[in-house]
Amino acid sequence: MRKKVTVVGAGNVGATCALRIAERELADVALVDVIEGVPQGKALDLLEASPIRKCDIEVTGSNDYGPTAGSDIVVLTAGFPRKPGMSRDDLLWANYEIVKNSVEQVVEGSPQSILMVVTNPLDAMCHVAQRVSGFPKNRVMGMAGVLDTARFRTFVAQELEVSVEDVVTMVMGGHGDSMVPLVRYTNVAGLPLTELMDAEKIQAIVKRTRQGGAEIVKYLKTGSAYYAPSAAVTEMVQAVLLDRKRVLTCSAYLEGEYGIRNLFVGVPVKLGAQGIEKIFEARLTGEERAALEKSAGAVKELVDVLAPKLGSPGAASAKT
Ligand code: NAI
Ligand code: 2OP
Repeated sequence: MRKKVTVVGAGNVGATCALRIAERELADVALVDVIEGVPQGKALDLLEASPIRKCDIEVTGSNDYGPTAGSDIVVLTAGFPRKPGMSRDDLLWANYEIVKNSVEQVVEGSPQSILMVVTNPLDAMCHVAQRVSGFPKNRVMGMAGVLDTARFRTFVAQELEVSVEDVVTMVMGGHGDSMVPLVRYTNVAGLPLTELMDAEKIQAIVKRTRQGGAEIVKYLKTGSAYYAPSAAVTEMVQAVLLDRKRVLTCSAYLEGEYGIRNLFVGVPVKLGAQGIEKIFEARLTGEERAALEKSAGAVKELVDVLAPKLGSPGAASAKT
């Protein structure tokens, strides 16, 4: 039997995720949105592309969660995107309600699914998904690190005029302006970045990566990025469905790793059929650790705001 992926939110990110998942024949796709006709129309359009793209998959669109039952993975993209001048955090309360309602409904029919959160503010929305679903920590994660890492890799490859494929890096922390691109862990086919580029250029790339989302918002004006985000989600979906044991940076629930407790923060994880199968603890210098703590602190501020609604299984802390 084919696997099933539900994508909640048939907007820019959701519909493009559905397209990518369908074209790779990774799974049948159930697309859900509150706007009448939109998920149905986009699903039918995707299905009609399948003979041309030579992929045998089902794509359904609905305004209810009936067709999502039995999903292996649920990708949550429902919510408002940023407009120019807005930070991801400005979306907190509006998207809290949307993620809460979506998770409540989707887990009823898919109690064994793996939840991949995309909605911003990302790490805080992972908390919402976890608390509402009650799922174990390996089955709730957020997509951000794969995207932020891809941006960093793109800028390095552009600057050095080399293939993006050969650039390896890691961007940890929360999905916000204080995210932590790790220069020391960046190399080009094994060659340390610091030997290939001067410090000033590297810092410019770090800054551009941190502001990568805002750079796109500034161009688009009415929404945020979706081609790279949907590619990042699809990489995570593929890692789980094909049990690839990929090592990717995802927002994961930390219980003491990196000195961070009861918070979702972006860290390198092993992604396979069970979801997050392992959290890797990279060795960090004092400066890197301080940057990660600062970034985790920004996530904690939002989680604290949500705490009266969510309750707390333990005090979140950016330091043990
Ligand atoms: P969009 O506005 O194009 O699509 C959002 C869709 O959600 C709309 O079609 C809307 O009708 C739907 N929706 C709203 N309430 C719903 C509900 N209760 N149930 C089902 N669907 C509902 O926005 P876009 O560009 O797709 O972005 C979606 C979210 O993803 C935003 O919060 C955005 O900030 C976030 N995002 C996060 C990224 C990350 O790296 N984690 C990257 C890109 C976007
Ligand atoms: C991004 O980084 C909006 O979070 C989204 O593009």
